[in-house]
Amino acid sequence: MTVIYNSILETTGHTPVVRLRTLSAFASEILIKLESFNPGGSIKDRAAVSMVTGAERDGRLKPHGTIIESTSGNLGKSLALIGATRGYRVILVIDPKAPRSMVDFATALGAEIEMVDTPDESGGYQRPRIERVQQLLSVTPDAFWPDQYNNPDNVRAHFELTSRELLNDVPEFDALVTAVSTGGHISGLSAAVKQALPDAITVGVDAAGSAAFGYPFAKYSMRGLGLAWKPGNLDHSVVDRVHLVADYEGIATMRVLARNEGLLVGESAGAAVFAAVHHAYRYPGSRIVVMAADGGVNYLGESFHPDWLRADGLADKIEAAGITTPEGLVAAASRPTNEQVPTEYGLRTATLAND
Ligand SMILES: Cc1ncc(COP(=O)(O)O)c(C=O)c1O
Repeated sequence: MTVIYNSILETTGHTPVVRLRTLSAFASEILIKLESFNPGGSIKDRAAVSMVTGAERDGRLKPHGTIIESTSGNLGKSLALIGATRGYRVILVIDPKAPRSMVDFATALGAEIEMVDTPDESGGYQRPRIERVQQLLSVTPDAFWPDQYNNPDNVRAHFELTSRELLNDVPEFDALVTAVSTGGHISGLSAAVKQALPDAITVGVDAAGSAAFGYPFAKYSMRGLGLAWKPGNLDHSVVDRVHLVADYEGIATMRVLARNEGLLVGESAGAAVFAAVHHAYRYPGSRIVVMAADGGVNYLGESFHPDWLRADGLADKIEAAGITTPEGLVAAASRPTNEQVPTEYGLRTATLAND
């Protein structure tokens, strides 16, 4: 059947699910939903369309208005697409961690970039980015801030649409493992999954160093997941377990997936697969679904590049942990170590806050 779309935005969703061949250890099956197939290249397209459409509907966003948002990259790509197709000016407040390719993508679609290059005292950029958004909102007429951290339309997109799609493709599974930043997709998806599959376990994957689940904030390298504070959109009541993944674990997994499965996924997807393999170790025989929030194309110049890995100090850690082959990865994920997680939080080795 031939389908002709009226806008590129209509191609959002219907992303494929692929079975991992080399990492489905412990009699488990790991299925990965590839959100890079969305037109902006990530899961954020779904949230962006939902938040902008909601604002259009109730007049928070006027025709020819301006969309201003703080983003680590992917939401910026999505908003740039929407701006170009629906006629909005888009201003993206980003920081130096945003991968170059993401900035170039958004700029090519006509978005304007506001770079925040001074971190706060904890080394993070997310709070200074929000401050810059507030400044811009105060001087820009007809400006709309989607506020992805608190906007219920972010969660709703996943509760209503992403979950329907996932449950259609995979009607039965034992665990959902996915990365967290605003909490939008895990909260919406988990709430819907728990209605359909009450016994399914949901695992929130965060960066070691992120404060999204209430742990103390410390600098980390992975992009896409993690936050310097607890986001309003993160509903802890639908997340059963939390796995804090170290930079070297997530990035090494991303690289193993590329070389051994032909799957070019992003850093947060690497972290989520690492956590999924650990989940398989703890719950042998599980059918596990992982959301791969974006694609590895975003990171070709950074974490896929040997010079970048060496400069960040990650190359040696990956080598030392032996996470360079599927077998090495399965062994490391069975006993993850995460020296960044303080022992007083009860997480001696990488890991599971809700044990
Ligand atoms: C690559 C990547 N992974 C994970 C996430 C986390 O998704 P959410 O904001 O829905 O928690 C994001 C969000 O920006 C992302 O871009």
